[in-house]
Amino acid sequence: MQKFPVKLAPSILAADFARLGEQVTEAEQAGADRIHVDVMDGHFVPNLSMGPVVVKSLRPVTRLPLETHLMVFHPDALLDEFAQAGSDSLLVHWEGNCNLHRTLQRIKSLGKRAGVVINPATPADVLVEVLADVDLILVMTVNPGFGHQRFIDSTLPKIRRVRQLIEQIQPGCELEVDGGIDPATAPLVAEAGANVLVAGTSIFGDPSGVASGMKRLQQSVVPGHR
Ligand code: DX5
Ligand code: ZN
Repeated sequence: MQKFPVKLAPSILAADFARLGEQVTEAEQAGADRIHVDVMDGHFVPNLSMGPVVVKSLRPVTRLPLETHLMVFHPDALLDEFAQAGSDSLLVHWEGNCNLHRTLQRIKSLGKRAGVVINPATPADVLVEVLADVDLILVMTVNPGFGHQRFIDSTLPKIRRVRQLIEQIQPGCELEVDGGIDPATAPLVAEAGANVLVAGTSIFGDPSGVASGMKRLQQSVVPGHR
């Protein structure tokens, strides 16, 4: 039984980019809580994806918050541009930043929600000193850089540990997970304490469409959901 109401954050990395606006609208109509935008620099992760122009193009298309996951080294150089483009929250990796406290203050000074992301090999306890400064923690449940990867089971105890830390230090903080989330893994992460689930392939890759992918995920975490 999950302990928290669960929100879904469709990741457009798995969307059909030729129909991006339509796909985001479909996700919004199907009950998405926010849209997750994956930014990759080809260095922090071995892949390139999208930049502020995508956020700017989506801003008039949806009323949902646009959440920007910065898989980059030195995120400070990009914060202003994404904020101006219309990002509502900026999520930065603990591993990609030597001055995380400064970055978080900078995000807040831009009037945006601040999140910290930890990779699968990074222990939960690195969050102790930053939790008071953040709105959201994102636990990667795959190694970042690509969609459609297999969920790493050993992240489950870490999700539980992060939930404990949140309850002790910053109870209003959200706990999000990202990578390999589908109807089989969603109930596991929700039971461990995650309350926001990022999902790309299981939503935009559903052969029956975005609404079907959303519904299958919703039903997996709330068994009575129609
Ligand atoms: C991976 C990205 C994820 C990705 C998840 O590096 O951060 O947001 O889109 O994709 P799925 O849901 O397909 O694992
Ligand atoms: Zn992501």
